[in-house]
Parts: sequence; structure tokens; C-alpha cells
Amino acid sequence: MSMVPLWCVVPAAGRGARVGGDVPKQYLPLAGQPLILHTLQRLSAHPSIAGLMIVLGAGDPHWPGLDQLNGKPVLTTLGGAERCDSVLAGLRALPASVTDDAFVLVHDAARPCVRRADISRLIELAVPAGGGLLGAPLRDTLKRADADGRSQVTEPRDQRWRAFTPQMFRRAELSAALLSASQAGVTVSDEAMAMERTGFAPLLVEGAEDNLKVTTAADFALAEFLLPRTV
Ligand code: CTP
Ligand code: MG
Repeated sequence: MSMVPLWCVVPAAGRGARVGGDVPKQYLPLAGQPLILHTLQRLSAHPSIAGLMIVLGAGDPHWPGLDQLNGKPVLTTLGGAERCDSVLAGLRALPASVTDDAFVLVHDAARPCVRRADISRLIELAVPAGGGLLGAPLRDTLKRADADGRSQVTEPRDQRWRAFTPQMFRRAELSAALLSASQAGVTVSDEAMAMERTGFAPLLVEGAEDNLKVTTAADFALAEFLLPRTV
């Protein structure tokens, strides 16, 4: 178990195009309050989390302007065009008290159902491993589609995992990996992908599958069902 509480960067600068509408999904109501507040409450309630760095879109009119939650500091900074740009901006904006070799968590604002026990397990297992992420092995058979939407071939399922968040790496290592990907023109879809490019093999820590990323309008009903069941 990590002794020193860790900061968590929360990318929340997306527009939620797959949900649609004018208000980004992280601010749409879920069980009576904006989705992002559920996520931030879970994170700030965790004893291993020291503070939150929320990464916001330019001119975001919806952010409720919190500066603390559960007694933990809540800071904000400006994100970028892609999720990886937002995460790098968040890492850069962390306070100087977060040292280069300190582990930092990254958790999507759009994942309100993350379980406290899974955050604990990630920290416990991935700190000694040098970094890692929550995920789950694929359960369904995997198909490769052709342009007509017909199944061309069945892909092997063994060794295939879905990647969730939180993901956890050392501040300087992750910043360097994200910068390197950006300079190479590679849009990495998660922190682990940036770290893989540097030759590091992030530890896959199995977490609950109900840590869903709210992505479509239909996911709100599912998230609302899951929220009280995933504490
Ligand atoms: N995100 C971000 N900066 C971006 C893009 C995404 O901080 N430039 C954040 C989102 O706000 C979200 C998380 O990254 O909390 C995961 O991204 P995703 O689920 O893809 O959200 P959106 O990009 O907003 O949704 P969509 O892809 O449907 O537009
Ligand atoms: Mg997106």
C-alpha cells in the first residue's frame, strides 16, 4: 500500500460528441447531480487520494467552481484537443509538491462508477510494478469487420484486455511519454499506450467491468442503476 497519498488528474475537457447535445456529457444530470460530481466525490473520498486536478475545456461555462471536496484540494487547468493533450496539461499543472517520481492517477470524468476497492487494488499492485492500469480480460468473442459490416475473421481473445481508468504512472515518466508521443504525431488513446511506446509494460490490474465509461445517451440509465451498487 502506498504511504503517500497521490494526486489524481481528471480529464474533463471533452465535448461528448457520441452523447450529442449542447452540454458535454460530464455535466448532464445523473441521479440528481452532474455526472462529474459523482466521479469527483468517489475519487476525493478515497484515503489514498491527496488532491484532484480537473482538466477543463476552454471557456467551460458548466464547471461548478469547487476548490475542495472531502477536505482535498480541487484545482483546474485548461485541456487540449485530444484526451492525451488534456492529460499532459493536467500533469504539468500539478503542484510542485508532487515530485517527479511521485505516482499520479489519471481517471476519466466520464467513469462515475469506479469502485473504491479497485482504486485501492490498483495502487497496491501497480506501485511496486512501476505503474499500471485497471482493466478486464475480454469476455466476448472478437470479430474483425469488413467495410460491409460482415465478419471477416474471428480474432483470438486470449491475452486481450479492455483498458479502464484509473491508470497510474510516475509524474515525470508519464509526462515524458505523452510528450514523446505528441512530438511523434501519435495520438495515444490512454496513458498506458504512451508508456508502452517507451518500452515500459504497464501492469494490468483486473477491475470490475461495471466501471463503465459513459459514452452514449443510453449509458446514463445504466450508470444510474450501477451508481448505488458499485460503492
Ligand atoms: N477528454 C478530455 N479532453 C479531450 C477529450 C476528452 O479531457 N480533448 C476527456 C473527456 O471529458 C472524458 C475522458 O477524456 O472525461 C474520456 O473521453 P471520452 O469518453 O471519449 O469523452 P469525449 O471525448 O467527451 O466523448 P466523445 O469521444 O464522444 O466526443
Ligand atoms: Mg473522446
